[in-house]
Amino acid sequence: MKFTVFGNPIAHSLSPIIHQQFAKQLRIELEYTRSLASKLGFAEAVAKFFRTGGAGANVTVPFKATAAKLVTHLTPRAARAGAVNTLIPLGRGQLAGDTTDGEGLVRDLQRLLKSADVCCEVLIIGAGGAASSVIEPLQQVGATIVMANRSSAKVTALQQDFGDLQAMSFAELSAPPPTGSNSRPRIIINATSASLTGTELPIHPNWFADSALAYDMMYGRVPTPFLRQAQQAGVEQSADGLGMLVEQAALAFALWHDGQLPNTEVVLPTIRAALE
Ligand code: ATR
Repeated sequence: MKFTVFGNPIAHSLSPIIHQQFAKQLRIELEYTRSLASKLGFAEAVAKFFRTGGAGANVTVPFKATAAKLVTHLTPRAARAGAVNTLIPLGRGQLAGDTTDGEGLVRDLQRLLKSADVCCEVLIIGAGGAASSVIEPLQQVGATIVMANRSSAKVTALQQDFGDLQAMSFAELSAPPPTGSNSRPRIIINATSASLTGTELPIHPNWFADSALAYDMMYGRVPTPFLRQAQQAGVEQSADGLGMLVEQAALAFALWHDGQLPNTEVVLPTIRAALE
C-alpha cells in the first residue's frame, strides 16, 4: 500500500514517520513518501499518484483549498471548512476529500485538558485557513469562539459562514482584559502564521494570566514566540501544535485503514524527538 503527502515545501514533513509509527503499532505494511508539488502541477501529480495505485494521500500547505476544489466527493465537514487534508480513492477515477484538522485539534485539546468538554470561551487569533478549519469542530464540543485578526475583513467573512462567531479587535488584545468580565477565554489559540517569522503578537500578558491553556497551532524544537509570551505571563498550561499534527494523522490513518485508530499518546515522544 502506498501513501504520500503533497505540499510545498515538504522536505521536513513529519507525516511519513508518524504514519510508519502507526503502521508498526497496528502491524500494517505500508510505504509513505513526501511529494513536492508545484502550484501548476498539483492536480496532475495527485491524478498520477492515484492512477499508479496510491491508496491515500495527505495534503498540506499550500494546497488544502485547491484540493477541496479538485475532488469528486467532499465530506460535509471539508465542504464547510473549504479545505481538504486527506484524499481517499473511491475507484474509477473518483476521489473523496476530507479534513481531519479540526477534529485533530479538538482531540489534542481534550488530551491536554483531560476532559471531553472544551467548553467556555476560546479565543482564536488569526482568521486564515488554519483558523477557519477548526471553528465548527470546536463549537461542536461546546466552545464559544471569539476571533481576533490583524485585519478584520476575514473575520467578518467567517461570521457569515459560522453562526455564533464573535469578533474582537487587535487593539482590545493589546490592552488588559476588561475587569469584572466573566467571559475571559479559558483557551487561547494562535492560528496565525506569525510564529513562522518569529513575530510576537500584541497580546497583553493579563489575557494569558487568566487562561488555563495557551495553544500554538505551529510547532518547533523550541517554544514559539507566542508560547514564550504565554509562559512569561504565567499561563497555567501551554502546548504547541505537534499533538494536533499527530491527531489529524491518526484520524486520516483510520479513514484509510478500516477505522483503525492508532494510540497517539505513545507515538508523540518519538515524533517530538524527530523534530529538527
Ligand atoms: P494559514 O493557512 O496558515 O492559516 P493564511 O490563510 O495565509 O495561512 O493565514 C495566515 C493568518 O495569520 C492570517 O490570519 C494573518 O492575518 P491577516 O489576515 O491580517 O493577514 C495572520 N498573520 C500572519 N502574520 C501575522 C502577524 N505578524 N501578526 C498578526 N497576524 C498575522
